[in-house]
Amino acid sequence: MDLTRIDHVGLAVEDLDAAVAHHEELYGARVVHREEIASDGVEEALITVGDSYIQLVAPTTADSPVRKFLDRKGEGLHHVGYRVDDVAATLARLRSDGVATIDAAPRPGSRGTTVAFLHPRSAMGVLVELVQAPPGDEPAH
Ligand code: CO
Repeated sequence: MDLTRIDHVGLAVEDLDAAVAHHEELYGARVVHREEIASDGVEEALITVGDSYIQLVAPTTADSPVRKFLDRKGEGLHHVGYRVDDVAATLARLRSDGVATIDAAPRPGSRGTTVAFLHPRSAMGVLVELVQAPPGDEPAH
């Protein structure tokens, strides 16, 4: 079993500040990390839930994949992040098994993670992100 925990649930949102305020009001949530990932055309905010996160993701550019998702489907569940110990090893095994992946090789994610996305057609219709934590990382309670 390669998966060690649910790292995060990714929600696509139009307005990051409004989505943060919504989660603060509903659940008393607290944002523990916020980061713009320019290469993906997104800005994100992380809310800790136990050993996992809710990841709110808003587009920052017109050609951002999240912009396209919002235009097609509206706000909602965008992807699930599964934690793995070695994203390169898991990705290589899946690709050699013929699994369709969006990333051919691991790449930097937010918060110092290393990530790779699987295509929904090979993952029960769910956009799956494999997430390897930075060395020494602990959940931010
Ligand atoms: Co994610």
